[in-house]
Amino acid sequence: MLVSSSILHRLLMTESLFPLKLLLLLLLIIASFSVHNAEQLQSSQSQSLVKIHQLLNYPSALSSFNQTSSDFCSIEPTSTLTLSCYEGNITQLHIIGNNGFPPLPQDFSIDSLFATLEALPSLKVLSFVSLGLWGPIPSNIAHLTSLEIVNVSSNYFSGSIPIQFLDLRNLRTLILDYNNFTGLIPDWLSSLPELTVLSLKNNAFSGSLPKSLGTLPNLRVVILSGNNFSGDVPNLRKLKNLQVIDLEDNHFGPHFPTLPKKLVSLVVRKNKFHLGLSKELESYYQLQKLDLSLNGFVGPFLPSIFSLPSLSYLDISGNKFTGKLFHNMSCSSELNFVNLSSNLLTGRLPTCFKHRVVLCARNCLSSEEQEQHPSSLCQNEALAVEVIIDHSHRHKHDTQGNKAVVTSSVIGGMVGVMVIVGFVSMLIKKMYNKESVKKPVTRLITENGSTTNTAKLLSDASKL
Ligand SMILES: *[C@@H]1O[C@H](CO)[C@@H](O)[C@H](O)[C@H]1NC(C)=O
Ligand SMILES: *[C@@H]1O[C@H](CO)[C@@H](O)[C@H](O)[C@H]1NC(C)=O
Ligand SMILES: *[C@@H]1O[C@H](CO)[C@@H](O)[C@H](O)[C@H]1NC(C)=O
Repeated sequence: MLVSSSILHRLLMTESLFPLKLLLLLLLIIASFSVHNAEQLQSSQSQSLVKIHQLLNYPSALSSFNQTSSDFCSIEPTSTLTLSCYEGNITQLHIIGNNGFPPLPQDFSIDSLFATLEALPSLKVLSFVSLGLWGPIPSNIAHLTSLEIVNVSSNYFSGSIPIQFLDLRNLRTLILDYNNFTGLIPDWLSSLPELTVLSLKNNAFSGSLPKSLGTLPNLRVVILSGNNFSGDVPNLRKLKNLQVIDLEDNHFGPHFPTLPKKLVSLVVRKNKFHLGLSKELESYYQLQKLDLSLNGFVGPFLPSIFSLPSLSYLDISGNKFTGKLFHNMSCSSELNFVNLSSNLLTGRLPTCFKHRVVLCARNCLSSEEQEQHPSSLCQNEALAVEVIIDHSHRHKHDTQGNKAVVTSSVIGGMVGVMVIVGFVSMLIKKMYNKESVKKPVTRLITENGSTTNTAKLLSDASKL
């Protein structure tokens, strides 16, 4: 382009030969267009692609490489292969193999594969999906510093997340789903300031989550389902952008997590939560999907959840929620799936549930269609649950009381209590004020973002 513009300049400076000039100009424009279309890849990068083809054991996804000598950038994108180029550099490489692809043979070297990728210094998006890759992610990933999106789903990767990811300062989306990764979520992950999507679904990660997870300002989607994580979820309230959190099928608990209020999807299905719900749930105005099923939640269910304005999917089945439902309770107009099965609920189904999918078997409701327990069962179990809650509360108070006696005098304690009471009431007043101001604003945002769902959020987040 530089060359052509200087020629252009000289041409325009010449005063004679006007028709010829025009013709040349036209030719130049045509030439520059065709150069732009069939972008020529730097030869080192073409060689790198040929090498990748060989290292991956010639997968069918790359069959178009056989007909190409060097013109890789003009390959039409397909569902299995997409290559993007910019000024002679590869910027995106998506290679998608067949689902359930077996592991590559013994002589495969993941280190060589990543070393070969180093010849692509502008690579921003890398998808190596279902290609039979195995081994730990090599440390030389540190050299691929342009990477923004990495998706290596459905391979046989093992080992932990290497610290060399820290060198990928632009990393925004990290997807390691369906592999055999182990170990903890490292504390240093919080040093990746751009991280927006973290998806570790179906691996063998374990341990509790690092507190630092709550300090990643851009985090929008966190998917940790199908691992062996345990313990309480760290406080995530400061993650103002968090919209999707999926903790399904782990050992998280016992306390309900502390989360920001703009959540769109919250899934904690199949964990070890076994205390009460947080009242805060009632203010998650943008929540569309709430799945609390198959835990040990106890205590009264919060019926105001039915009327969260955006809620469309609610599953609280397989817990020990108590409480009475009434005919005249209200529900969100969006609500179209409700599973209340296997709890200790009494009373009648709200009439607003009509024409929606509602499952409520194995409670003590007065329903004719779905099998119920006698109401004595729910009452007795509810009492037993209350005793447990009461007991655990008293126990807590006892230990706190002992400490207080040792550490402070009676007068000091009283002053302290007064200060705390004052502070708490101030805080409550403040929150109350804020809430009443905020409500309409949140509702507006909800209406604008009415088309969002998990899949869309994910794909948005993966876009450049
Ligand atoms: C990773 O890539 C595969 C193949 O393109 C895609 O099906 C999958 O949805 C991607 N994962 C995420 C979380 O975007
Ligand atoms: C994943 O790891 C488990 C346990 O470490 C092992 O039994 C299994 O064979 C591994 N699977 C693959 C596909 O490597
Ligand atoms: C509703 O919950 C029960 C108990 O967890 C479960 O067996 C059933 O499959 C659920 N129904 C649907 C449609 O999800």
